[in-house]
Amino acid sequence: MSTSPVATRVARTPPPLVLVIFGASGDLTGRKILPALAQLANRGRLNERFCVVGVARTGWSDDDFRQVALKADDGGGGAWAEMVKSFRYVSGEYAATETFDALRRVLAEVDQARGTSGNRVYYLATVPEMFGAVAEALAKEGCNRPGEGGEFVRLVVEKPFGRDLDSALELDAQLHRAFDEDQIFRIDHYLGKETVQNVLALRFANAIFEPIWNRRYVEQVQITVAESIGVEHRGGFYETAGALRDIVQNHVMQVLALTMMEPPTRMDAAHIRDEKVKLLKSIDIPSPDEAVDRSVRGQYVAGVIDQQPVVGYREEEGVDPNSEVETYVALRLSVDNWRWAGVPVYVRTGKRLAARVTEVALQFHEVPFLAFEGALSRELRPNVLVLRIQPHERISLHFGAKVPGEDFRVQSVSMDFGYEQAIAEMGMDGYTRLLFDAMIGDPTLFIRTDEVEQAWRIVDPYLEAWSEPGGGLHFYQAGTWGPHIADLLLQRSGDAWRVPVL
Ligand code: BG6
Repeated sequence: MSTSPVATRVARTPPPLVLVIFGASGDLTGRKILPALAQLANRGRLNERFCVVGVARTGWSDDDFRQVALKADDGGGGAWAEMVKSFRYVSGEYAATETFDALRRVLAEVDQARGTSGNRVYYLATVPEMFGAVAEALAKEGCNRPGEGGEFVRLVVEKPFGRDLDSALELDAQLHRAFDEDQIFRIDHYLGKETVQNVLALRFANAIFEPIWNRRYVEQVQITVAESIGVEHRGGFYETAGALRDIVQNHVMQVLALTMMEPPTRMDAAHIRDEKVKLLKSIDIPSPDEAVDRSVRGQYVAGVIDQQPVVGYREEEGVDPNSEVETYVALRLSVDNWRWAGVPVYVRTGKRLAARVTEVALQFHEVPFLAFEGALSRELRPNVLVLRIQPHERISLHFGAKVPGEDFRVQSVSMDFGYEQAIAEMGMDGYTRLLFDAMIGDPTLFIRTDEVEQAWRIVDPYLEAWSEPGGGLHFYQAGTWGPHIADLLLQRSGDAWRVPVL
């Protein structure tokens, strides 16, 4: 039986180490990284010999950083507050030698005071333009190599990883000049979600699904990552990204790969990532005309969400009033391999949509012949298996059942399995899990270099096609399911978007 980290995990703590966060005064550190660490600390999942050193341009003192860290407490106890007392902060420019001199001094003091043994996890949470420069500066200072005593040095890299294939390859080359691939942990927080990992359990720990998980039984696949929030305070960043880069290149591609890849022969990092890459490689690359034909890009205008009026994207803070950036994308993809040939894969994501829901739906072929009389089976729909990733994580199977009565009426019903009700054990949230895995050195839930490359290879043609005249933008009202024209993408094949059952 496999003893991989995905299959079995006993409660343990990472070894002694210092986590160095570049971008320590930024939004991500305050909103995600520090709260995740506080959660680990309060659950007893951090080594006692653990310390955080924050690095950023903001002119904070150690104490300022500690105050921010204290606020991240999840209310789970005093372990975090105790730990925070030893946290340190280095203020300086990211590429300046003085910053790294100061960092080296602080790290030596921390090793001495906290017994952190020279083990390092460097976390790049700066603006993405600085990722390469910080990695190279670390290398220049000799901070990139494990010590002679077997200490480890790892580099955690946030998204976005590049803006397109070329810039991603360039960033990779820069990182690889400083760190080996097995030292680099590229984050996609979707992989930290329990329900995303559960796709593997559903598919490969059960005998009943795999035989029907193919073109003979599956008629179409739909992946929805819908958000009801807008761009919030991230308008400036979003203007440089758009929905395709922000969600499709990373989160959607990962969910798609896990859902459609071949069974790995072992549930470990190398085997799972090999299968994901193989799957991504088999996704069809469209010509520019095909890319326009198989995609819809949209942008929200003012509307109503939860009975509250909300502004349009162009009125958001930090957004150009004439912005052409898309906040919605729908794509029709095809996976050209033996298992999936001919099965359309419809993907959509958007901000300010009618609801927050992430799900994968496998719709099965209709029965070959319907013996029930027309009116009696009108409500009957094809079988659909829905993997709801969030919220209210569950798996639902929709099928036909007889309505009680003398007529033989069949209607669609669903059989639901809800994680919250069925499994009481509290999992870690995405960031908490990924930080923990980076600290124990398990790369399974991180993105390998070739996965990034393949994902950009898939989305690049759309970026290129949209930059040409004709790569138009369609507006949709906030609080709806996106531009109407996205329906046509499916109607051409007689298909329709699922309305998620909330
Ligand atoms: C991030 C995107 O990667 O994922 C955000 O940058 C988005 O724009 C977020 O809101 C969605 O994550 P989740 O976990 O809320 O689905």
